[in-house]
Amino acid sequence: PRSVWLSRHGESLYNLNGKIGGDADLSPRGHQYAQKLPELVRQSVGGDRPLTVWTSTLKRTIATARFLPENYNQLQWKALDELDAGLCDGMTYQEIKDQYPEDFIARDEDKYNYRYRGGESYRDVVIRLEPIIMELERSEDILIVTHQAILRCIYAYFMKKDQAKSPWMNVPLHCLIKLTPRAYGTDEERWQADI
Ligand code: G3H
Repeated sequence: PRSVWLSRHGESLYNLNGKIGGDADLSPRGHQYAQKLPELVRQSVGGDRPLTVWTSTLKRTIATARFLPENYNQLQWKALDELDAGLCDGMTYQEIKDQYPEDFIARDEDKYNYRYRGGESYRDVVIRLEPIIMELERSEDILIVTHQAILRCIYAYFMKKDQAKSPWMNVPLHCLIKLTPRAYGTDEERWQADI
């Protein structure tokens, strides 16, 4: 690709309550980010060429992409949905710690390989992202609006970072990242929305 644009969804009502997973709507701040995103994208593109937008199938990413220009094609991918927390979906980290203390420790010790009961590990996510990465490699000008765990894996792929370390990487909310692969490494630029 020439460049790949990455963004997490705007803040969701679950983010506000510290809950993981689910399919919550955006919070008022998250909605502000959605309104701001077209401007950040315009600044980052440098010209008028339209991007193609890939979201997950979850409401918070679709709502975040809602105000992008109409000539941007949009596609929803199930493979871009958030890491499936299985039985822990919809819980806070404190609730997981109280109800599944051994799992909480096991995850902390090996976050890349730990698979939620009835859910996924980061390793599983990296595997399900393979078709996405293949499609990305032969596409131009894609903006991906997805979830923190998914962005960590995509980011690590383009930045040639160790996937086993990516589960700990912080990907800020309300920030647009542009990655441009070059012969000797990938250039990175960021636009942080002030909301
Ligand atoms: O909401 C879940 C996060 O995006 C994934 O966070 O893998 O650090 O628990 P975690």
